[in-house]
Amino acid sequence: MLNLINRLISINICHILERYNRYIGPHWLPKMLRYGQERKKLSSKMGETEGCSKHKRWSLQGMTALVTGGTKGIGHAIVEELAGLGAIVHTCSRTETELNDCLLEWKAKGFRVTGSVCDVSNQAQRENLLNTVSSQFNGKLNILINNVGTNIAKTVMDYTTEDVSFLTSTNFESAYNISVLAHPLLIASGAGSIVFISSIAGITPAYLMPIYGANKVF
Ligand SMILES: NC(=O)c1ccc[n+]([C@@H]2O[C@H](COP(=O)([O-])OP(=O)(O)OC[C@H]3O[C@@H](n4cnc5c(N)ncnc54)[C@H](OP(=O)(O)O)[C@@H]3O)[C@@H](O)[C@H]2O)c1
Repeated sequence: MLNLINRLISINICHILERYNRYIGPHWLPKMLRYGQERKKLSSKMGETEGCSKHKRWSLQGMTALVTGGTKGIGHAIVEELAGLGAIVHTCSRTETELNDCLLEWKAKGFRVTGSVCDVSNQAQRENLLNTVSSQFNGKLNILINNVGTNIAKTVMDYTTEDVSFLTSTNFESAYNISVLAHPLLIASGAGSIVFISSIAGITPAYLMPIYGANKVF
């Protein structure tokens, strides 16, 4: 299990960041290029060539994955990375039209991806999501990526109780409760892994992100 987590984090993060590149501004480019160079160095150290490593060494053929919030940003990149490595992926978001557009896009690319409309901050919808995942994947889930996360930019004294409740249920409670609901499926797969998408704000205080930072101490 730890092996799979290490694989996902250390190798695929570079692919994911490359894919994510298209969503972010040019000020991130130097950082992205550094990640690309590091990745190439790592591949050549391991005696691999670009492209062949992806399919021969890191295949996820036959694996099943649930990625929350896969229609945009990092989640979208993760869906494509996992599906590109051969995993069968289920994802979710709150916006049906965007979800359907993404599903069409992935189908055209030959990826095996399905999706549900789900607000992960709501327990009934989380239960529906995991019931769908269970029936689609015959009760077995290999990879859970708790990706959904959001921020409301305010200073610490300006948050309302509703803000705090919204952020905590979206960022923290969703990941915890989905992991609990997914637990039997992960065990049943015989090789289950959970990845929590954290943030640097969970390690060091970040301006206008105090609640988000507290939520992200996974
Ligand atoms: N972007 C960064 O610089 C950065 C840095 C560090 C960590 N992170 C973390 O990386 C993760 C992804 O961030 P991102 O910037 O890629 O986010 P993003 O671009 O805002 O995308 C968020 C995705 O999650 C979905 N989503 C949001 N709230 C949801 C909910 N309640 N239920 C279901 N789906 C929901 C969104 O679709 P709908 O809105 O249609 O539901 C969308 O697909 C987050 O956990 C974030 O904290 C991001």
